[in-house]
Amino acid sequence: MDHTSNVDIYSQKLSDEEFRRIQRFMLDTLGIKLAPIKIVMVNSRLIKRLKSTGIGNFKDYLDYALSSEGRVNGEFECMIDELTTHKTDFFREPEHFVFLREQVLPNFVSDRYAPFKIWSAGCSTGEEPYTMGMVLNEYQLANPSFDFTIFATDISNASVMRGVRAIYNKDSLSGVDKNLIRKYFLVSRDTTENKVRVVKQLREKIHFSILNLVDDYFFQNGSLDVIFCRNTLIYFDDVSKRQVVGKLIEKLKPGGYLYVGLSETVSQFSTAIKQVSPSVYVKLN
Ligand SMILES: C[S@@+](CC[C@H](N)C(=O)[O-])C[C@H]1O[C@@H](n2cnc3c(N)ncnc32)[C@H](O)[C@@H]1O
Repeated sequence: MDHTSNVDIYSQKLSDEEFRRIQRFMLDTLGIKLAPIKIVMVNSRLIKRLKSTGIGNFKDYLDYALSSEGRVNGEFECMIDELTTHKTDFFREPEHFVFLREQVLPNFVSDRYAPFKIWSAGCSTGEEPYTMGMVLNEYQLANPSFDFTIFATDISNASVMRGVRAIYNKDSLSGVDKNLIRKYFLVSRDTTENKVRVVKQLREKIHFSILNLVDDYFFQNGSLDVIFCRNTLIYFDDVSKRQVVGKLIEKLKPGGYLYVGLSETVSQFSTAIKQVSPSVYVKLN
């Protein structure tokens, strides 16, 4: 491995062969299709990893990150983190949460042995499952017999860990109602810090774990009421999209709902679902 400090890391350029190696890896491991135009983005993001690891060129870096040593040392995950998009927000695509509150929840029949089960698949840093948590907790306050469980998964270990910590910049709350902020966030005592933390009561409702959507899922078939898989499949190739959509639908109860991002459509991948609202699908019986 070239760890020489006098190599100019910033001038390193990915060769076509190295980029093809990354494309193959991303497709095989994550189902993500990297278009040729992404070479510039990949180049600049992986330069950060060259800098952090002190490895002087892309060939040695890829050999290391993809080796068993790289996997054990966490570089494999750092590379995935750099090559995936984690953009998210509280109440992102707010109409989805309106549909949840006004259409989905009132039709759920409460049963104290079977709480409402919802999964944020591709949860990034946690804003989506915590938004679900606020909506569901508010619903529970008005309907005391209602109970819920939220599962949140992502392939990115770093993102999931941020979700578990539940500490966010105050600015990220700009789309959140003031009453909800007061109820569900603790503001740092240090006024220079600009940080907030989700309250314990809500943190305890979210079960975070790491899961690659291309692999097997730990949920039982037909066990979930709602799955959000938003702005995640968008990066997948069509073959992986079809497989993942099929597996997600399998995990839903008949009559359960699958949400994708507002710019996505998945009805072409399955006849087992019907669209009921923009980018919301119901599983047919
Ligand atoms: C753009 S974020 C979407 C976050 C959230 N669902 C939303 O809409 O705001 C996409 C997330 O999908 C995750 N992701 C990408 N490929 C994945 C895979 N194969 N399995 C699980 N998660 C994946 C990324 O790590 C990233 O956090």
